[in-house]
Order: sequence, then C-alpha cells, then structure tokens
Amino acid sequence: MTTNFLWGSATASYQCEGAWNEDGRVPSLWDTYLHDNHLENGDIASDHYHRFKEDIQLMKEGGHNTYRFSLSWPRLITDLAGTINPKGVDFYHRLIDECLANGIEPFITIFHWDLPDYLEQRGGWLSKETIEAYVTLCDLVFKEYGQKVKYWTTFNEPRYYVFSGYFIGNYPPGVHNPQQTISASYNMMLANAEAVKRFKALAMPGEIGIVHSYGPIYGVDDRPETRQAMRDADNYYNNWILDTAILGEIPQDMLAKLAGQGFDLSFILPEELKTIKQNTVDFVGLNYYARVLIAPYETGETILAINNSGASGQGSSKVVVREWFEQVWDHANSEFTPWDTEIYPQGLYEGILMAHKKYGVPIYITENGVGAYEDVSGEVINDQFRIDFLNDHIDAIKRSMADGADVRGYYVWSTMDLYSWKNGSEKRYGLVALDFDQDRQRKPKASYYWYKAVCQSNGETI
Ligand code: NOJ
Repeated sequence: MTTNFLWGSATASYQCEGAWNEDGRVPSLWDTYLHDNHLENGDIASDHYHRFKEDIQLMKEGGHNTYRFSLSWPRLITDLAGTINPKGVDFYHRLIDECLANGIEPFITIFHWDLPDYLEQRGGWLSKETIEAYVTLCDLVFKEYGQKVKYWTTFNEPRYYVFSGYFIGNYPPGVHNPQQTISASYNMMLANAEAVKRFKALAMPGEIGIVHSYGPIYGVDDRPETRQAMRDADNYYNNWILDTAILGEIPQDMLAKLAGQGFDLSFILPEELKTIKQNTVDFVGLNYYARVLIAPYETGETILAINNSGASGQGSSKVVVREWFEQVWDHANSEFTPWDTEIYPQGLYEGILMAHKKYGVPIYITENGVGAYEDVSGEVINDQFRIDFLNDHIDAIKRSMADGADVRGYYVWSTMDLYSWKNGSEKRYGLVALDFDQDRQRKPKASYYWYKAVCQSNGETI
C-alpha cells in the first residue's frame, strides 16, 4: 500500500445520527415514508448525533486515519426557500473538527439518500427544481467546510437509489416506473455535474468524486446473446453512472435502446449534455459487495424481485430489467453471506482493474462489508465470518494495486452497527456493536481489533 493510503470506515447520516427532530432538523423522505408505513425507523439509529466524539475516539483507537460520513440535507437547509439551519451547520463543523483533532481525514458524502421531504413532495429527483436546491446545498457546504475537507463526493450510489425507489419500489418513493427511473437518474447525474462545476468555480482546495454501487458484470456463459446481455447490464448497472460522471458521456447504445423501447428522452437537453461533458469528477468511489452475474433474457418472466429483503434461503431470486437481461444468483460453487449475497472477492480484483483501465482516475473503495444477524449480548463478539470476508477483499485490492491499479483508500461498511434501511437494525455491518434495545453502548467486535492491526500495519497483516 502507498504510505498515505486511507484506512477507515463509513456511515451515512440517516443511518447513524438519530436526533431526527432535534435542533431544527426537518423530516427527510425516509422519516415520512417509515413513519407513515409504521416501519422500523432511524429516529434514534446509532445516536451518533450525540455520541460522535466517542465514535471518533473508537476510530482513532482502532487505527483509522479517515472517516467517511454524509451530511444530512434536512439538518442543513430546512425549507424550499433555502433557509439555513445554524445548528445543523454547527454540528458538521464540530464533527469535522473532532475528526481533524484526532488525525482522522473527513471524507464527505453530500447526498446519501435522505432527501428533505419538502423536496420529495415537489417531485424529488424527478424535478429539476431538486437539482437547483442541491446546488444551493453544495454551495453552502463547500463554503462552510471546504477549507477543512480534502475529499468530497456528490452522491452515494445514485443507481441504487433510483433502482430501489423507482424500479423495484422497495425504497421511497416506492414506485415501479421505468420511465421515472431513467429521468431521476439523469437528474442526479446532471446535479453531479452542476456540483462539480460549482466546486471548481469556487476553486475549492480538495478533490471531488462520486460514489457508485459497483457491480462488475459476469456472464453465465460465453454465447453472443449472453455477451449482449452483459453489455446491456453493464450500461444499466455501471456505465450510466460511471461513464457519465467520469467521461462526461452517457452510453449511446443505452440511449438508443431506451429510445427504441419508447422511452421519452426529451428531458435531456443539449446544454445540459455540455455541462455533463465539461464537469467530470476527479476520482471515483466504488462500493463493492458482490459481482453481478448475467444471463440473457430468455425465460419470458417480467417479474421484479430482489433477494435482499431478508436472509431467506439462498440465492434464487431474479431481476429482469426491461427484458434486456436477467440477473441471476443461483449458480454452482458460489458461497453466500448470511444475507444471501454472493461472496466473490475476485470480482473486486477484476472490477478495480477494469475501472482502472477504462477510466484512469484514482479509486477509493468507499464501502465493503458484510451484513448479518449477530448476537451482540456477550462480552466478546466473535465475527470471524466478517474478518474472513474483509481479509479476502483487502487482499483483492492489494493484488489489483500490484497489477497497476491506483487505489488510494478503503472504507469498511460500517463504523458501528446502524440502521440498515428496510432491514432496520437486524442487519448488522459494524466493526463496533450496539445494543439497540438498551443504551446503545459501544462494544468493539473481534473484527474491530483485527482491522486495527490492518490499519496500523498499512495492510501488511493481510
Ligand atoms: C450501500 C449504501 O451506501 C448503504 O447506505 C447501505 O446501508 C449499504 N450499502 C449496505 O447495504
């Protein structure tokens, strides 16, 4: 590893902060959606809002030199008129200052899914008004924190956000509408370019990137129709975000295919394409959990099912996208996490090298980890399965670097157990355990101590 390699862990505001209605914070679309549907929510989450100092001490003790976290938009700007909440602004000053005082480099995500509900009510990411509001947010946070923060990312996983919210419909706003899926992702990618533009116009000292849920594409066989399905899947899962943000180009064959299927693409304006072309990111953050295995669309199924809603028997669901391809999970020789995600570190090795060759920008692995039900009641929490998982993935990164990739940092998801969206607090990812039913006392797991040695040795223990 390089000497200044970033070793850390990651969280997101809605998933860890809690304090959902304190100090002037207004509801996000997640607050409203979960409250209205009586689902487990992040009202308290990990209580990071009140306990961030303790959490940062744990990071420091754990050998981390960086912390990836996101800013809560509904804490910072509280209405359509753009009213700034001074207490929200102050919170992130205190969080950033605490990081810096403890030798922890802040790595900031501007948007990690908690859109203010006042914007969702006006159409959310389907509306270009949200792009303007987002640029106002960027302007605020660049000016407030820009002299202290070296690493910025505009969005966390825009593809996953729109896929879940507008295609599968298991996340808010909870619809299945392919046209809206495309419109919302386009608007987010335009907002990404507008944010980069503002960042450069303000001559901020740091660097700006985007975080993508990276699914390197594999085929079930080598037939020509499988290869075409793989290309379509790559466009849909990866290129739509990565080509647009890094190269400034939306994949042409994807647009042609969408147009051929009757999608309305008239919302894409020539001057916007120019903005996208001229304002590309400095680096990319890749969140890696598993590869994506693709088969041609042959079964005639039109279902939309996804297997991440629970640990419910291994890998048998399918996702069919516009009859272009099928994503499959059930294949020989696969190993799965307790939550039915395939364990495939080789996909990280190969995926990094593919991204390196295609894009050439610095890469940060901004999330990697494993979610599971865990008994955290004992004195010692032995999560050997997590240690094995992380070990094999860090090894994959080291191998990719030895083969020439420019990887500059690694973040375990997640710093502590937190609120895992629709899976609530059941699905634990943390290096540090929390008892959600009691006082949320922090208890490092075996993986925390193991990772400490990794960080302190700069990866030599792998
Ligand atoms: C992706 C997201 O960025 C994060 O919010 C989520 O909890 C993890 N991966 C785990 O699914």
